[in-house]
Amino acid sequence: MSYQVRIANTDHAFDVDDGERVIDAAMRAGLMLPYSCRGGTCGTCMGDVVEGHITYPDGLPPAIDSEQDEAGKALFCQARPASDLVIRVGEVRDAGDIRPQRLPARVERIEDCAPDVRRVFLRLPRDKRLTFLPGQYIDFLLRGGQRRSFSLANTPHDDALLELHIRHLPGGLFSGYVFNDMKEGALLRFEGPLGNFFLRDDSDRPMILMGGGTGFSPVKGIVEQALHTGVKRPMHIYWGARARPDLYLDSLPQAWAEEHSNIAYTPVLSDPATDDEWKGAKGFVHEQVVRDHPDLSGFDVYMSGPPPMINAAKAAFTAAGLPADRLFYDSFEAAP
Ligand code: FES
Repeated sequence: MSYQVRIANTDHAFDVDDGERVIDAAMRAGLMLPYSCRGGTCGTCMGDVVEGHITYPDGLPPAIDSEQDEAGKALFCQARPASDLVIRVGEVRDAGDIRPQRLPARVERIEDCAPDVRRVFLRLPRDKRLTFLPGQYIDFLLRGGQRRSFSLANTPHDDALLELHIRHLPGGLFSGYVFNDMKEGALLRFEGPLGNFFLRDDSDRPMILMGGGTGFSPVKGIVEQALHTGVKRPMHIYWGARARPDLYLDSLPQAWAEEHSNIAYTPVLSDPATDDEWKGAKGFVHEQVVRDHPDLSGFDVYMSGPPPMINAAKAAFTAAGLPADRLFYDSFEAAP
């Protein structure tokens, strides 16, 4: 048994198998709908059910409340159709050849760049290639069906190796393996590319690109791609971290800012208490953005980081005049 889902105000329609999630069926049909966590926690995939009914077999996910549910809102990364549907989503794109695939990869190189952050470089088999947009992520496929998501930090034009920035989480299943046991040459399996955090090139507005912690990694990919393709739009990069060692590639955005007149870079530390030498910005990174740009109505904003940062920034940026459809974000729950 399958249901048909039509996307309102477009020609797009696709079938959803019994028990399948709307977002998975859309991907299968070659469409990119907004999503990030695919776990019901970030709210990126929220849209409207215009006609028909949906169910959540595991109950209402955390990123939607009963009021929104009753008003016809839905999280399409979790919703299963209970009838044919007409839905409304913020953005729909033809995925073209950007299709998630399952691939093996070998660890080519491991670099320690902070006490708790490693850059891991992966090599694909010689006859395989990953077609992706800078800023997207991959899921490592672990035993027991578990997954761990990491953003790609490299660009498609520099894809001999895939680059990931991995933070060590206390008790972390996968990050514990990465820091304690993983050796160069190790074989991993992943699915990707995933997510719709990537540069929209149909705008000439100035951009703010904000990363929190290892949320810098997709920002790195997006900026490097923009530099490669000659984007001249002003870009103000913000990197929020607790203390200076957490700005684990600080010299890179500094160099971008020195070499390109359209790039500015502001690192922001939330906990510089023990760092008397720090003369830079202090506090929460999104608050620094609004201090520097109190009117965001003319900007596009890209941000990547943990849910508390994303949620606080969404509210602050909207209050500063940023239209919701010019805010692109990747909200990653750090799974242990
Ligand atoms: Fe659906 Fe995050 S809540 S993608």
